[in-house]
Amino acid sequence: MNAPVPLILTGDRPTGPLHLGHYIGSLKNRVAYQHEYRQFIMLADSQALTDNMDNPAKIHNNLLEVAFDYLAVGIDPAKTTIFVQSQVPELAELAFYYLNLVTVARLERNPTVKEEIRLRNFERDIPAGFLTYPVSQAADITAFKATLVPVGEDQIPMIEQTNEIVRRFNRTYNCETLVEARALVPEVGRLPGLDGRAKMSKSLGNALNLGASEQEISKAVKKIYTDPQHLRIEDPGHLEGNVAFIWLDAFDDDRAALEEMKAHYVRGGLADSKVKARLEACLQELLAPIRARREEFARDPAEVMRILQRGTEAAREVAARTMAEVKAVLGLNYF
Ligand code: TRP
Repeated sequence: MNAPVPLILTGDRPTGPLHLGHYIGSLKNRVAYQHEYRQFIMLADSQALTDNMDNPAKIHNNLLEVAFDYLAVGIDPAKTTIFVQSQVPELAELAFYYLNLVTVARLERNPTVKEEIRLRNFERDIPAGFLTYPVSQAADITAFKATLVPVGEDQIPMIEQTNEIVRRFNRTYNCETLVEARALVPEVGRLPGLDGRAKMSKSLGNALNLGASEQEISKAVKKIYTDPQHLRIEDPGHLEGNVAFIWLDAFDDDRAALEEMKAHYVRGGLADSKVKARLEACLQELLAPIRARREEFARDPAEVMRILQRGTEAAREVAARTMAEVKAVLGLNYF
């Protein structure tokens, strides 16, 4: 008998259109995974509300934007199930039972949540839904009995907490209903922002969106952070922290030419404008077909909504099966 195909569950909070950081950090891998694994990608609109409760329109309006990005990069709805978290009520229901298996102290120790609370200045006024979102994330993962969860480094604590819940559930109720998952962290580090800051993010204003126009790409590359000490062309340049070269490392397939360019830059005598021209050519080539496909999908939002609806129906069937098993284990199967 063949070994079962590993199941992947992953997703994003739809708080804005996706950018090159998402492309390198996850989208590129997801396009590859869909041929090898059974993959579910979740638009985590409910989770996005845990720190956007005052602005639900932002989440509503970005749901399709993110879906356009998924489809534009080549995530194929015939291979990957794309679905909407809020439309699978079993996920909220599962989370409700898991909350009894987690202490408030444990939630307060989750390093990612801790950092997010600090960044958002919640101080003492932490929304309970925000503090407990790792439990909701455990519900997302376990509802599908996912064994692989491709995520960035910052999400590893979520998988650890998920697995604690899985073990606690199975031990407490003496069953094997829930399955542990493994984080699949990409080898390539995160892509720095245009301005040289370590993280590319929409809110920092240092991102380049996947749907960027030719002019936007050109403008972004012109202001990209390079080597502030490289004042005259003859001066030796530095590669460390030089975003133009870090991005070239991520996007330029002609490794030999790139290495030659790096050596020239370090030696001195190579203008930043030459490096930027090479980078711009790479990015224009990468993004032109993505932009064209994105525009095509954006012309028919109703069709994309139907893709999400079909995906959500399929996802809901899977989640409902797990929900029924969990309820049976808890003795909540009266009729
Ligand atoms: N927390 C993830 C993010 O901020 C989104 C997410 C929600 C997720 N549920 C998930 C990711 C389950 C992987 C698995 O991007």
